[in-house]
Formats: sequence, structure tokens, C-alpha cells
Amino acid sequence: ITAHFQPKVLAGKRVLITAGPTFEPIDPVRGITNVSSGKMGYAVARAAWEAGASVYLVSGPTALPTPHGVSRVNVQTAREMLAAVQAQTEGSDVFISVAAVSDWRVENASDRKLKKSAGGVPALQFTENPDILATVAAAGKAAGRPYCVGFAAETDHIEQYAREKRARKGVPLLVANNARSAMGADANTLWLFDDAGVTTLPELPKLSAARRLISEIARRL
Ligand code: CTP
Ligand code: CA
Repeated sequence: ITAHFQPKVLAGKRVLITAGPTFEPIDPVRGITNVSSGKMGYAVARAAWEAGASVYLVSGPTALPTPHGVSRVNVQTAREMLAAVQAQTEGSDVFISVAAVSDWRVENASDRKLKKSAGGVPALQFTENPDILATVAAAGKAAGRPYCVGFAAETDHIEQYAREKRARKGVPLLVANNARSAMGADANTLWLFDDAGVTTLPELPKLSAARRLISEIARRL
């Protein structure tokens, strides 16, 4: 199937998407990051464009090409991702937060390369990063837009954690997937949690799963 045959269920809509990991420096040559290929988020961006949306992708470091028609800005850290997202939220109808955002950053990062020494190993001090999705959802609550969609990769207790996460983030739709089978893979099984309950999609290649997700989102707008 090519883009040409996708129903234009998001025609005239502006969709903001985050994808990939974030990278938090320890020093100029080292950092901490999350396991994320970016494949699912990029597939969602492509599917949204196929559905007729104008798509803005805020991406952490990935090895993926920009999907056709999609505007992309690259970021490294969670705070950079938040700033890039906030610059776009006001004009957005939908925000789909697929990025694997680092929950913590190194508070005492060094601007010079750390050297090995006989004195021992560096002591890293961590501090919590802002929650991009929860921030956008809270800011848009009164206006009722953008419609916010969260993603959760879990290794266990998927249903329980997904329901709790949906409530905690204050989003109408929370998409869960299995971290063990989805990471880096080309196929994915998605569970969609909304106020009506759960919709389980079949295991599909990520682009097909993304297209199904986009049509599920469009039905809920
Ligand atoms: N998210 C975000 N900003 C963060 C952390 C997470 O925007 N600092 C978004 C992710 O993009 C995803 C959703 O929140 O859409 C859920 O991410 P997840 O890591 O599963 O949730 P957390 O609240 O960080 O909980 P956990 O302790 O399971 O990591
Ligand atoms: Ca997290």
C-alpha cells in the first residue's frame, strides 16, 4: 500500500510527534541514553503524513531518514526536546509522545572530558527531567487541545501500568507495548487505553501498526 491509498483522516490537522531516545551528557564525550531505535515514532510520523496531516517531528538521536513530507528538528536532551515541543504545541491539534525520554540527567555534568585516575570513579549526581507529555497535557487541558497520546513500553504488568500511567499523565489515550518484543524490532503489538477501556491491535509491522493507530486517533478527535 502506498501513501496515495491512505484515507485522509487527518486532513487539515497539525500533528506534533516526538521520537527516538534523548541523550544526557556526562561530559563532552560520554552520556546516558535510553534504548530506542526511533522506528515506531518515525512510522507514526509517516502514517500521520499519509493521512493528510502536516507533521512536525522532534527527534532525539536516531539513524533514520526523515519520512517524506515531514518537518523535523533534532534534539539531544530532554530539556531541548521540551523546548522544541513547546514551540509547536500551540498550533498543534494532536501531540503523540513516542520518544523514550531519559527520566534523569546528570546534574554535575563536566564541560571537560573526565580522565581516569587512581583516585577512583566519578560520582554522578542525577536529577529528574521534566515530563514533556504531562507538561503539554496539563497546559492544553483548558483549551482541550492538542489531543495528547502517550506511549508506554513496559516489561511487565502492562495493563495495570498503562492504566495508571494514563491517569498520571492526564492524557485521553495511552498506547502500551511490550518493551521486550518491541525494542528495535520491525513489528509491534499495541494496546490502546482510553476512557472506554482497551483496544488491542494485532501484531503488525510498525508502519501498519502506526497507520492503525492514526485511524484510531482520528476517530477520537
Ligand atoms: N515522557 C515524556 N517525558 C518524560 C518521560 C516520559 O514526555 N520525561 C512520555 C513518553 O514519551 C511516553 C510517556 O511519557 O509517551 C510514558 O513514558 P514512560 O517512560 O513509560 O513513563 P514514565 O512516567 O517516565 O514512567 P516509568 O517510571 O515507567 O519510566
Ligand atoms: Ca520513563
